Amino acid sequence: MANANPFSDPLRFERRVPACAIVIFGASGDLAKRKLLPALYRLALDRFLPENFAIIGTSRTAMTDEEFRAKMRESVEKYSEDTSLDASLWSRFESNLHYVTGDLNDENLYTALGAKIAEIKHSSVLFYLSTQPSYYGPVVDAIGHAGLNKAPEGSGGWRRIIIEKPFGHDLESARALNKRVQSVFQEDETYRIDHYLGKETVQNILAFRFGNGIFEPLWNRRYVNHVQITAAESIGVEGRGAYYQEAGALRDMIQNHLLQVMATIAMEPPALFEAGAVRDERAKLLRSIRIMKPEDVPRFSVCGQYKGFRQEEGVNPETQTDTYAAATFYVDNWRWAGVPFYIRTGKKLPRRVTDIAIQYNTAPLALFGAGSGEPTARPNYLILRIQPEEGISMRFLSKEPGSGMRLRPVSMDFNYGTSFGNRSPSAYETLLADAMLGDATLYTRQDMVEASWKVIQPILDDWGARKFSFPNYEPGSWGPAEADAMLARTGRKWRNS
Ligand code: BG6
Repeated sequence: MANANPFSDPLRFERRVPACAIVIFGASGDLAKRKLLPALYRLALDRFLPENFAIIGTSRTAMTDEEFRAKMRESVEKYSEDTSLDASLWSRFESNLHYVTGDLNDENLYTALGAKIAEIKHSSVLFYLSTQPSYYGPVVDAIGHAGLNKAPEGSGGWRRIIIEKPFGHDLESARALNKRVQSVFQEDETYRIDHYLGKETVQNILAFRFGNGIFEPLWNRRYVNHVQITAAESIGVEGRGAYYQEAGALRDMIQNHLLQVMATIAMEPPALFEAGAVRDERAKLLRSIRIMKPEDVPRFSVCGQYKGFRQEEGVNPETQTDTYAAATFYVDNWRWAGVPFYIRTGKKLPRRVTDIAIQYNTAPLALFGAGSGEPTARPNYLILRIQPEEGISMRFLSKEPGSGMRLRPVSMDFNYGTSFGNRSPSAYETLLADAMLGDATLYTRQDMVEASWKVIQPILDDWGARKFSFPNYEPGSWGPAEADAMLARTGRKWRNS
């Protein structure tokens, strides 16, 4: 919905979700346990869900409704980071949890789901695909085949589907999957999720850029020297070896989350804060990222694997999978021509941190410290911290107290936690509520998915054809030395995140 001043919209979370049912495919999997159920429970606790909201879980593991409820209670208790379980609310919440056992390849499962949806009398249904990605196509086909993609005529209900990442394995498979999805669901019923877009701090980039008057004039090639986007994790693959081995860091983090973050940082202001307009600008930016020529890939990308990855459970001892990926991207438009965007991500790095550092050009004249051997000018940085210490900092030089003109970098900090006492909703809370409300602003569209596959496809092709001498970084280090070399070639350095 268009809004006169969208960035001061305090009501976003005061909208209530309409009566509907959510069907979770892959309900005994990790995502449902760790993210989806805790998010849905929290929405219930915050009174965003209607009393008769229903959840139907399905997977191959045989369970009764009671067993499913007990398992989900355990997950909510274990994985709700900042919410403790309220016993009386839980007993009302769990009475709306249902479970259907079945094999995703068996059409009887879809008949049983149809019967369950009819039995609980919901005409609006949101399907959530959190299965192995190879099932996305077959499940969508089967939903269509069973006619579950259409609400009963005259009921006023709707049908929507959320599809987890990865959407495809490369450009071609993403297109093929899309074709399949669109033969069953309309584009406005299709919600491709990228949970980074639901993070409060990623949404705040839009508020910061377009709700204030003073930053946007400095947001271009005239003032910005370069941008660094870092998503570091200290954990390894945590039992997801088999999935991760097929994906790798470039596909797992850069193709989706980090290119979306880059698009949010670099996009033009939308005309309206409305799904179509915001997504048009993001898509336009993704299409403006220069596609690397095959001969440029080795210079503009770095592939890494930590020592010990090959010994993880489910991982081939000779795998060439990347657990670290870094790349230099250029945006060929008037605002950003010539400004490098450096992106890096990896597992088993020194700590968990996601941030964006915008480095400004240094002052044109070195007035201070000349001749003293001190650096005469240092760049200003604007740092947007996505997690874990959410906030924004501006780094600049200041005079050190005392005689003489010695300058030292200092920082002006905004910290989410201290500025706003209240808790931020998790990305999945925001995104689930949005999908139920029919608001796709924070979901990706097919043209965005394709544009980001196009950006990384030359890197995938190059890496797929090369044999790296892995492992090439120690757990607990900042990744392979080549990543430093990539920046050093232009006289730059990674900022210590
Ligand atoms: C997921 C990736 O999409 O994002 C994981 O598959 C990664 O490998 C995770 O750990 C990171 O998300 P967050 O929200 O913890 O930064």
